[in-house]
Amino acid sequence: MTDSNSPDFWDIRYQNNQFPWDLGGPTPVFARLAANGQLTPGKMIVLGAGRGHDARLFARQGFAVTAVDFADAAVAAMQEMADLDHPLEIVQSDFFWLPPAFNGRYQYVLDYTSFCAILPARRGDYADLVTRLLQPGGQYISLAFPIGTRPGGPPFTVQPEAIIDLFTTRGFTLHHRESPPDSVPARKGYEELLVLTKTGEL
Ligand SMILES: C[S@@+](CC[C@H](N)C(=O)[O-])C[C@H]1O[C@@H](n2cnc3c(N)ncnc32)[C@H](O)[C@@H]1O
Repeated sequence: MTDSNSPDFWDIRYQNNQFPWDLGGPTPVFARLAANGQLTPGKMIVLGAGRGHDARLFARQGFAVTAVDFADAAVAAMQEMADLDHPLEIVQSDFFWLPPAFNGRYQYVLDYTSFCAILPARRGDYADLVTRLLQPGGQYISLAFPIGTRPGGPPFTVQPEAIIDLFTTRGFTLHHRESPPDSVPARKGYEELLVLTKTGEL
């Protein structure tokens, strides 16, 4: 029996066409962010990028996007769906093991259903990872889902206040928080958009 820390857990689901988390295209909340001009294009890393819809969305808006996933089938799908005019840097790796060369490279870390995919015991490690990947002043953009307290997973439920605590205790400041009006219907009320800036202030 594999667990969600293992690439095989995810790979089997992609191979069997059982990936209900995949919206089949860019996340509408991110499409709005990418288009409204509030984010200056820069270097972005997408953690647990899956089949890459959101990574390609931001690449098409002029961001230099690194898309990381450890599942063979997810990486293969990103390679197959590559937009040659707006290429991604596709990295097949356990994101917890990204080498130090990635540290401080990014203006943005993007997360959707990646934080909720890891074991809750690893959430501190995830926050440390985001902290080391970002430049000073960089932003962690998280569409935090699924909000709740149901046991088990994945997806393991999230609590926005706990995510904010996890990052503010690492020198981040909450820049923006909303219940998105454009969540996909099935997720409305179960997700919040959080943007946290790495300020170094504790
Ligand atoms: C629920 S899916 C979300 C995919 C994508 N973000 C989306 O919204 O469609 C979680 C993804 O994270 C990947 N993943 C989980 N843990 C990972 C890890 N430690 N390193 C790299 N990828 C990971 C899985 O392979 C899977 O593609």
